[in-house]
Amino acid sequence: MHNAGATTDRGLDRANPTDDMPEASDDPNEMDPASEVQLFRQAFRRHATTVVIVTYFDGGGRACGMTATSMCSLSASPPSLLVAINRTSRAHAEITARGRYGVNLLSVGQRNVALYCSRPGSDKRLREDWMATGLPSDATPRLSEALAHLECEVQTSYEVYSHSLFLGLIHGVWLNPRDSPPLLYHGGSYSQLESAAERSERFHWELRED
Ligand SMILES: Cc1cc2nc3c(=O)[nH]c(=O)nc-3n(C[C@H](O)[C@H](O)[C@H](O)COP(=O)(O)O)c2cc1C
Repeated sequence: MHNAGATTDRGLDRANPTDDMPEASDDPNEMDPASEVQLFRQAFRRHATTVVIVTYFDGGGRACGMTATSMCSLSASPPSLLVAINRTSRAHAEITARGRYGVNLLSVGQRNVALYCSRPGSDKRLREDWMATGLPSDATPRLSEALAHLECEVQTSYEVYSHSLFLGLIHGVWLNPRDSPPLLYHGGSYSQLESAAERSERFHWELRED
């Protein structure tokens, strides 16, 4: 990993931040692994994502969910996506066994669901009052307040380091008629987009500063 930010974070906003930084080394052992992990974490704290719940059925046919932010779209034709799931999680075992999973994009009011589904080792069964009802028997669990639900069949999976990348072929898309703001994860905490009023206020301040 390039150690550009290893000295300090200073200068990142300047026009040419690399001017006073040490040359990158080709020696992978130059940087100690602890600071490499720390830098990785610091970089990804700056990466804003929509929080999703990956849903699946457990061995007893109960609807379960796991919080994830690694989901990304892959291709529109065929419709497909990727999600990276830790091999130690129960979601990994269940999805591998059944070859199906759902991706629920969370809306800003679903922080409690994200918290519930992210606690390692905790009960991952989804509460009934969170769930949509009347789904086809072959559908994966859908959260009624989600922004969208993507019905995925595992096309293939790749074991990479601690995780597996599940390539899902999307067989169905449900869109919530209410287009609420998404629940985001940024800077190590749950977050949301600024409101129209906040945006407008900021815009006015920016105009005045120019
Ligand atoms: C915001 C957030 C995003 C997460 N994203 C992922 C992810 O993309 N993949 C993953 O495997 N775990 C992710 N996790 C951790 C899992 O939710 C957590 O380890 C999992 O619920 C543990 O499942 P288990 O109790 O079956 O072991 C994330 C956690 C949080 C709080």
